Amino acid sequence: MKSILITGGAGFIGSHVVRLFVNKYPDYTIVNLDKLTYAGNLANLKDVETSSNYRFERCDICDGDAVGALFARYRIDGVIHLAAESHVDRSISDPLAFARTNVLGTLTLLQTARNFWKGERKDCRFYHISTDEVYGALTMGQPAFTEQTRYDPHSPYSASKASSDHFVRAFHDTYGMPTLISNCSNNYGPYQFPEKLIPLFVNNIRQGKPLPVYGKGENVRDWLYVEDHARAIDRIFHFGKIGETYNVGGGNEWRNIDLVRLLVRTTDRLLGRPQGTSETLISFVTDRPGHDLRYAIDASKVREELGWMPNLTFEEGIERTVRWYLENQSWLDDVTDGAYRSYYDRMYKNR
Ligand code: NAD
Ligand code: TYD
Repeated sequence: MKSILITGGAGFIGSHVVRLFVNKYPDYTIVNLDKLTYAGNLANLKDVETSSNYRFERCDICDGDAVGALFARYRIDGVIHLAAESHVDRSISDPLAFARTNVLGTLTLLQTARNFWKGERKDCRFYHISTDEVYGALTMGQPAFTEQTRYDPHSPYSASKASSDHFVRAFHDTYGMPTLISNCSNNYGPYQFPEKLIPLFVNNIRQGKPLPVYGKGENVRDWLYVEDHARAIDRIFHFGKIGETYNVGGGNEWRNIDLVRLLVRTTDRLLGRPQGTSETLISFVTDRPGHDLRYAIDASKVREELGWMPNLTFEEGIERTVRWYLENQSWLDDVTDGAYRSYYDRMYKNR
């Protein structure tokens, strides 16, 4: 029996991790701790919300007393920490919110686990989910990020994630906290908040709205299907070596403009529109300040040591993703008009 606290489980990646663990490990109790910020949406977990091994707790990771009470109530022996402010553009306009949740929130969680696991933490795990953005930007010819690449964050988002990674390592080195960290590349798939490139653009294509490509669209990202990331998290949580870091990525680099053209072609085809219809929506806009040119992950460590590989090709993943957003337009509409915010009140408040 294990009791696992998954933070940020109502968000994009967290909801896929919760679903995987609830379905795959019926003997575990899976506690989803989430504050339900604008990015949290419990409708992402409709299909598992009545499972007997699933619990939802609305809680802020910065509230040490509340988090401590949950550790005691569920006798938590594993943490998979995904809760974060996650959007680079928001970090540029409100960096303090990122320092609060990503740095102080992570530290609060570490302190709580440390207090609770005192002396009996051999089988416990504190697994922190981080990003490749902590490594900074690559030029076009440079080799991909390895676990040894020096940290060099540029945005308030990546600086806050880098800081939280350092605290996790410090707790391992100073207090013997049984930690794991993984740094993953850009995820895509169902249930991603439509402020991020792929769901935003699919939504805009279906509505005939402009597609704002930053700069010249020459920035490169390494895309991974979210369920493949969730499978990597499962492997690292169960088989990763304590104190280690694992880079996770798709080995799948795309220039933004090429990805946008692929999205336009795929979405037009699935909507039955003539080829090229939505090309005219592409509009080049002022670049994001400090926009990192290129991210790329060398995932050989997690492949060789833990036997993880992505299951889906990018073509399969994009087809599946665009199809999902088009078949779940009410999910997109509920998020964009704010209706999703009442889901908690309707379904959970009086339980
Ligand atoms: P998301 O923004 O979709 O979800 C974040 C979740 O955290 C939301 O449910 C939100 O309500 C919750 N949350 C925010 N602040 C909280 C707080 N103070 N207390 C409790 N809950 C809080 O994020 P995501 O894209 O699913 O990313 C999840 C994690 O994975 C983050 O740590 C992110 O840095 C990391 N990551 C994301 C990507 C990506 O491409 N999306 C890539 C690599 C790593
Ligand atoms: P995003 O999904 O915000 O992820 P990240 O910034 O964490 O990589 O953006 C992916 C890429 O797409 C990034 O290079 C910025 C670019 N982008 C645009 O060109 N236009 C947009 O409207 C958005 C949201 C992103």
